[in-house]
Formats: sequence, structure tokens, C-alpha cells
Amino acid sequence: MTREPQLLGQTVVLIGGSAGIGLETARLARAEGAEVVLAARNPERLEQAARDVGARSTAAFDATDAGALKQFFDGLGPIDHVLVTGPGPSYVPLLEMNAEQVRDALADHVVMALDVARGAAPKMPPGGTLVILGMGPIGSMACRVAHHLNDCRVIGVDIVPERLQRAREMCSDVIDMNLDDPVEVVRESTDGRGADAVIDAVGMEAHGSPIATAAQTAAGFLPPPMARVMMKNAGVDRLAALNTAIATVRRGGTISLSGVYGGAADPINMMTLFDKQIQLRMGQANVKRWVPDILPLLTDDDPLGTESFATHRLPLLAAPEAYEKFQKKQDGMIKVVLTP
Ligand SMILES: NC(=O)c1ccc[n+]([C@@H]2O[C@H](COP(=O)([O-])OP(=O)(O)OC[C@H]3O[C@@H](n4cnc5c(N)ncnc54)[C@H](OP(=O)(O)O)[C@@H]3O)[C@@H](O)[C@H]2O)c1
Repeated sequence: MTREPQLLGQTVVLIGGSAGIGLETARLARAEGAEVVLAARNPERLEQAARDVGARSTAAFDATDAGALKQFFDGLGPIDHVLVTGPGPSYVPLLEMNAEQVRDALADHVVMALDVARGAAPKMPPGGTLVILGMGPIGSMACRVAHHLNDCRVIGVDIVPERLQRAREMCSDVIDMNLDDPVEVVRESTDGRGADAVIDAVGMEAHGSPIATAAQTAAGFLPPPMARVMMKNAGVDRLAALNTAIATVRRGGTISLSGVYGGAADPINMMTLFDKQIQLRMGQANVKRWVPDILPLLTDDDPLGTESFATHRLPLLAAPEAYEKFQKKQDGMIKVVLTP
């Protein structure tokens, strides 16, 4: 069975591309359809390697020289991947190292790598895929912030038509869960890798768990202390959204739980979390931490669209009816501002 080359149309830069691992990586990248740019110090060896693999261009310079490195990146067009293999190791027992050797080792292996990252970043396409599960107010605002930062592709997922409609204005793509399986769609659109990050903005509101639905309904009828116990012990195993997040995120990716979770009895898929080396972030919003970042965005330009964020503005007296409509997803009610 033949398969499509994986790097067609992409540019791979290999610093240390004239020998060893760098050269072999260049060869593999070429076999996958990439254009390669090779850099190393020795010009003859570099030209030989370039002929060998059919490199697009070469640059002979010492990558520990920050000025030369900057000049190299400034002269490049867009790039997709960078690999640094040189310089070689410095095998000296730690206790025998003098200060100069320590400085050299750090310059070769830490400072140079940082300079490469700094030089390459502006030449690389905005990165990654962010999936947001749940296009309620939180998911919708997360989508707006990602759109404002403009540094990734954002896919919004929901089942409510009005929410999907709003999401279309800010997200790069939307997935209607009534029609498509987000896990499948995201996998297909990320060459099988999965999303780099998933925000679960659904939490306990997730559809798909009859036990939790019953528990939440029951808790609504119980006096508060009993309701609290019930919610803590039985009412919160609505893991449909979290399981979707676990399946959708790529290996080593990040899941951020903004949807509220509680209780202790949830059977979380620890095996997949462990196997996929997923990073989990969660917790109450640290509002004060973000105030200095958010306040400057509340300007007349209104980049996050806060002025039009509320779908309804109602008097306080209309609150009970509004809550009911909100819960039943009626009247396009997504975010309500109550005016006292
Ligand atoms: N972690 C592991 O398991 C593992 C395993 C194998 C290797 N390694 C490490 O991976 C690195 C690459 O190994 P390798 O076998 O591919 O080495 P290699 O065959 O010596 O190739 C190193 C490449 O880097 C270039 N280079 C070295 N210093 C440079 C500098 N200052 N500026 C620009 N280019 C420079 C060299 O060309 P010029 O000399 O012409 O500049 C050459 O193209 C080494 O640091 C090695 O220790 C790690």
C-alpha cells in the first residue's frame, strides 16, 4: 500500500545537517517531500551533503555565533521544522570541569538552542490546533481569546445550533456533534495526530450520562445539605466531555478543564491519560491573575466582542424564567445579563 508523503511543500532546516543525525534526517525529510536547508561550519562537507540529499540551499557558519545565526534566519523565507544536532558533546567529569568549560558547554547546548528557537519562531506558521468542547459562554470566550491571539487553529464543538452559529463567527472550524464525531474529524484534520490542546468547557453539563442527569435533577429537589452530599458522591460522573477530550488530544497534548467537575467517584480513564502522556490543567479561574491581561482588551475596539457577548439583557425579575429557558436551551439564550 502506498501512502502520501508527509512533508510535501514543507521546509525543514537542519543545523548540523552535513553529517550524522542531521544528514540522515535531511535524507528522510526529502523522502517525505520536504525542501531542506542545511547549515554547518565546514563548507566542503556541507556542499557534499547538499548534493547527496538534494538540498535547496546551504549556509556555512558557526551556530554558536548569535549574530551569524540571526543573519541566517533573517535570510530565510517561511519554515516548518528546525532540527539542531551540532555541536557535539563535551564529555568531562563534572568535578573536573573548569568555569570556562561550563560556559562553553552552556553556550553550545543551551544558549545556542534558545537562539535557534528565537530566530526560527517568527518564520514558522502560527502553531497548533485548539479544540474547545462546549460553545457556551466560557467556550465561546475561550474561542474569542484564541482568535484574538491569532496563534492557532480553533475548532469549536457543540450540539446546540445557536451556539454553533455564534462559534462560526470566531472559530476556524466548528463540529456539530449531532452530525460528526469530533474525535474522528479532529484526527483526520491533523494528519492523525489529534489536537495540541483541548479545552473542556462542558464539565457537568455534558449530555450522555443518565446517572448524572438523574442525580442533578434529584439534587434540585433536595434540601441544600442533602443535595450537596448527593452531588458530591453520586451526581458528577458526567465524563462524556472529558472522555472526548482525552480521545481528541494528541499524545503529550494538554487538556484544560474549565467546565466544573466535582465529586470523587468518577472512573477516569487513567490508562489512556498515562499512555498518551497528557497534561491536565484545571481549577477555578484565577481571576486576579488575569485582570492586568484582560483589562486592556476592554476598550472601545472591543476585540473580544464583549459588547455583543450577552444574547439577552433582562430585568432581575425575569431571572427565574431566564434560568428555565437557559437550561432548556430555548430562545437562543446563551449568556444573560440581568439588570437590577
Ligand atoms: N541523546 C542521544 O542518545 C544521542 C545519540 C547520538 C548523538 N547524540 C548527540 O547528537 C548530536 C549529533 O550527533 P551526530 O552523530 O549527528 O554528530 P556529527 O556526525 O558530529 O554531526 C554534527 C553536525 O553538526 C555540525 N556542527 C557542529 N558544531 C556546529 C556549530 N557550532 N555550528 C553549526 N554546525 C555545527 C557538524 O558540522 P561542522 O562540524 O561542519 O560544523 C555536523 O554537521 C551530538 O551532540 C551527539 O552528541 C545524542
